[in-house]
Amino acid sequence: MTPARPGCLSGDLEGAGVLITGAANGIGAATASLFAERGATVYPTDVDVERGLAAAATYGAAERFRVLDVRDEDAWESVAADMAAEGTPLTVLVNSAGAAIKAPIAETTVGSFRRMLDLNLVGTFLGVRTAARHMNKGGAVVNISSLRGVLATAELGAYGASKFGVRALTRVAAIELAERGIRVNDVCPGSIDTEITATPDFAADDMDSYVRSIPMQRRGTPTEVAEVIVFLAEPRSSYITGVDLLVDGGTGAGARTPKKNAETSS
Ligand SMILES: NC(=O)c1ccc[n+]([C@@H]2O[C@H](COP(=O)([O-])OP(=O)(O)OC[C@H]3O[C@@H](n4cnc5c(N)ncnc54)[C@H](O)[C@@H]3O)[C@@H](O)[C@H]2O)c1
Repeated sequence: MTPARPGCLSGDLEGAGVLITGAANGIGAATASLFAERGATVYPTDVDVERGLAAAATYGAAERFRVLDVRDEDAWESVAADMAAEGTPLTVLVNSAGAAIKAPIAETTVGSFRRMLDLNLVGTFLGVRTAARHMNKGGAVVNISSLRGVLATAELGAYGASKFGVRALTRVAAIELAERGIRVNDVCPGSIDTEITATPDFAADDMDSYVRSIPMQRRGTPTEVAEVIVFLAEPRSSYITGVDLLVDGGTGAGARTPKKNAETSS
């Protein structure tokens, strides 16, 4: 395998500077670990220092863990500058930091709506802007939207608005950065087994019924999403930019009509 030049993914991910937000947990943690396994120089970032450091230690990147609140413009500049100074300029960016709130629009405060947009959409915008300013030819950005940024879902007004917005941002950035040889894509996970829905907002959801409505009849794992993120960052996907890649067990493909009596259907 030919090692990639710093800042240019010419052959594989060996030595490439990969910045991942929200890397303390869930999809971000699985993605950071997979990039490390593929030989990348991973810079895991998060606001949760304790869990971020513990996760990074499992794949040997604790010394590169950085505190990055994705809403903080200055922090973005400082991490990008650190990476360049350490000889591993920003080559791949994965914007995974995020959170979800669930409430009917009538009960959503302006404050919580703004907080959701600030974290999920403005945070992703600042990442994409950092990439636009610091990445070289051959770089790749992978944003994390959501199936809920493709299919509107009741009580996910703020979350859905932020995730539909991420898809718009992905496409605009893909068009703007294509001539510089930088690709920008997003993945849209369906229901993935992480802590994002482990909040009181989601406590009343009937997960068993929901899982039965997924064509593949199960939730996805963080690693199944991470594999797709890594693919979108690698030169293997060199002619793909501006797409939304659904990782959702078939939910976005459509629906099955429920049978009146499951036993008579076999
Ligand atoms: N899990 C799912 O079912 C699912 C589905 C669709 C999309 N997503 C998206 O995937 C991404 C990752 O979610 P997850 O399921 O791994 O959730 P998670 O809660 O396991 O991880 C989210 C991480 O983001 C970090 N974070 C929160 N606020 C931050 C901030 N201001 N700055 C930096 N980091 C911050 C948290 O500390 C945490 O480590 C999110 O963007 C989420 O919207 C998740």
